[in-house]
Amino acid sequence: MSKTILIATQKPFSPDAKQQASAFLEEAGYQVRVLEAYDDEAALKGALAEADAVIVRSDKIHAGVLDAAKQLKLVVRAGAGYDSIDCAGAKERGVTVMNTPGQNANAVAELVFGLLVYTARGHYDGKPGTELKGKTLGIHALGNVGKNVLRIAHGFGMEVIAHDPFVEAQDIQALDATPIDTVEELYAKSDYLSLHIPATPKTIGSIGKALLSAMPKGATLINTARAEVIDEPGLLEALREREDLHYVTDIAPSDETDAALKELGKRYFRTPKKMGAQTAEANTNAATAAAHQIVAFFERGERHNVVND
Ligand code: 3PG
Repeated sequence: MSKTILIATQKPFSPDAKQQASAFLEEAGYQVRVLEAYDDEAALKGALAEADAVIVRSDKIHAGVLDAAKQLKLVVRAGAGYDSIDCAGAKERGVTVMNTPGQNANAVAELVFGLLVYTARGHYDGKPGTELKGKTLGIHALGNVGKNVLRIAHGFGMEVIAHDPFVEAQDIQALDATPIDTVEELYAKSDYLSLHIPATPKTIGSIGKALLSAMPKGATLINTARAEVIDEPGLLEALREREDLHYVTDIAPSDETDAALKELGKRYFRTPKKMGAQTAEANTNAATAAAHQIVAFFERGERHNVVND
């Protein structure tokens, strides 16, 4: 019997991305079902009941959802972060989890600079702003997004410094950036700090008052990674104590923190919706990569980008 592949995206892919991924899967002989912009988990569970594999974005795949997916063998997160998936629970149930690293990295990195210019130019209020050229940009974690941010920063004439315990200093130097040994030193030296750490038990709540307070006068923390890595009470305290600091984010904090931050005026900005990976190109890259990984898995037993081995 032919396999059923579900594309389950609360935040829909662009039509082109969906069409290309579906066409590739159908050519391989699979049936494709699409569930998008769904309101409740029951719809997801229902659609998963007959799926052999599912392509998701930030959709939450927890144990209860996995229990409803009796035939499921594979979850592919069309994107980088897989903190929305219960990877251990999937493993216990014999379900492989993959991501598609790098496919949306340029889109996120371009948004970083859109937000940086918007911030530096005072939200386009007609008054003199500042330029990015000559300012120091700190990059916290040099994965796929961080490397794209680094590349674009050079075009703006920024001084780039970076910290990543998993990347050798010489590899950071080879990218024309200055390696920084500690997180504390990175924040202390960055006029702009771009955050690219994943949300893990180690990183959740790790960016707080001490790091923020150490930043230079007028500094901006920009978060296109995850809301969870921020210690929200610490962030608030730091921004209340230092009237020169800014926080810019693509991922909304809790409603309570959001309301409190809004009282700080232009020192806080968040995108109305998470926009980092929302480009036609990123959607197509991630969705088609996911489709290719599914076919390679079922037809040839290939295990690309498995994150729960
Ligand atoms: C990712 O982890 O790939 C990004 O955060 C994008 O997430 P999204 O697919 O939900 O926009």
